[in-house]
Amino acid sequence: MTDQTAPAKATPTLPDAQTVTSVTHYTDRLFAFRCTRPQSLRFRSGEFVMIGLMGDNGKPLLRAYSIASPSWDEELEFYSIKVPDGPLTSRLQHIQPGEQIILRPKPVGTLVLDALLPGKRLWMLATGTGIAPFASLLRDPETWEKYEQVIVMHTCREAAELTYGRNLVEALPEDPLIGELVAGKLLYYPCTTREETAHMGRITDNMTSGKVFANLGIPPLDPAIDRAMVCGSLAFNLDIKKVLEEAGLTEGANSAPAEYVVEKAFVD
Ligand code: A2P
Repeated sequence: MTDQTAPAKATPTLPDAQTVTSVTHYTDRLFAFRCTRPQSLRFRSGEFVMIGLMGDNGKPLLRAYSIASPSWDEELEFYSIKVPDGPLTSRLQHIQPGEQIILRPKPVGTLVLDALLPGKRLWMLATGTGIAPFASLLRDPETWEKYEQVIVMHTCREAAELTYGRNLVEALPEDPLIGELVAGKLLYYPCTTREETAHMGRITDNMTSGKVFANLGIPPLDPAIDRAMVCGSLAFNLDIKKVLEEAGLTEGANSAPAEYVVEKAFVD
């Protein structure tokens, strides 16, 4: 992991420009960065915005990114994959503190607490960079006020890909704002599928086999108490929906809250 922080450099001002304040590289495929927050931007933890860079053709090249920082944070944080030939991420991965990005200040999304009916346990189910919206929600006091237990299941191919989420989850009990709220409520179940670690396997398999419930010593899914938020690849989202529906949970939306909500982990 490498960190970069530096004073702002003078660069030409873009429309909706924000200045990058720090960049952290986790692996050769994953990085996170923080930037200034437009004063007018209000969002609900778990929502996404369009961000990007100016394209060579002079038009903004924008993609949807979940905001990984909580709604109270004075800066914004994003967590991204690096795709070598990806139109945006092939360039965005080289961004340096002091440089500018474009950020359209119009947050949207279904991965919000308001789209769920009241419940007791909240499952955060993420693959890969799908952990980003949960990085926001996990740092939001409302999450901890609304639920008696929060279970974070994050699965990646390799252990190093879990680092961003692991650092964040492990820092929660010491967090000056929410540390006390988190006490006794957080269960973390990180898994890998292509490198040997303590917990192995896909989220879907670990739920249908009952392994996660046995390992954590908790009862299986019950639509009366369980709520779930899902963020991962398209294939994962489809497969986990089946698992949740089979357990009796139904999909919610902002306009019609229910037992679970889904968002695609965007950039690919
Ligand atoms: P696997 O290694 O068995 O494919 P990716 O990097 O391809 O987005 O995958 C991230 C993680 O999500 C990997 O651990 C991968 O497991 C898992 N995964 C991919 N597709 C599915 C799916 N349809 N259901 C459950 N887990 C999945």
